[in-house]
Amino acid sequence: MDHHSGFEKLCEALEGSGALLVVLDNKKRLNAMTIGWAQTGVIWGRSVMTVLVRPSRYTHELLEGARYFSVCVPALGAWKKELAFCGSKSGREYDKLRACALNTTDGSKPGIKLIEGAALSYECELLSKAEMPSSALPEEIRKKYYPAGDSHTLYFGEVIRVC
Ligand SMILES: Cc1cc2nc3c(=O)[nH]c(=O)nc-3n(C[C@H](O)[C@H](O)[C@H](O)COP(=O)(O)O)c2cc1C
Repeated sequence: MDHHSGFEKLCEALEGSGALLVVLDNKKRLNAMTIGWAQTGVIWGRSVMTVLVRPSRYTHELLEGARYFSVCVPALGAWKKELAFCGSKSGREYDKLRACALNTTDGSKPGIKLIEGAALSYECELLSKAEMPSSALPEEIRKKYYPAGDSHTLYFGEVIRVC
């Protein structure tokens, strides 16, 4: 599938109940977390997916020791309970995929896992990361999203496959 043809489906999920960010780190720890924020487009002449993850998330810890991540988009209206669970419980305390009875399938590289039944999956290889400079944001946004100053880390992944 073309890297950008699922854009509307991705945005529909992000604006709805969310999508799942799935990471398998170099210690073989696997976790899924609900995300509502992501961007996809072109940077450095490559297709790039950017996800924004707060340092408090277990997913953040895993991304620090990972080479890949995937973003798995549900079919319209699907996975509502699962997205609520994976968006409120931490992988530090739960095997969330097992608790939600979500099965994984192998991606195109050994470090990539996808969620079975996803309508759309992005396989991404980490290229870079950056801390969100929240001080430059309009006050209204800063107050709403960063009252405690716990700014997001942006992880930039090259989209290597969309399926
Ligand atoms: C709809 C929805 C969207 C979310 N989007 C994000 C996001 O984009 N970035 C983020 O850091 N947390 C986001 N969260 C919060 C995490 O999913 C939540 O804190 C989760 O429990 C973290 O799991 P982990 O500790 O296993 O990584 C979202 C939660 C929900 C319900």
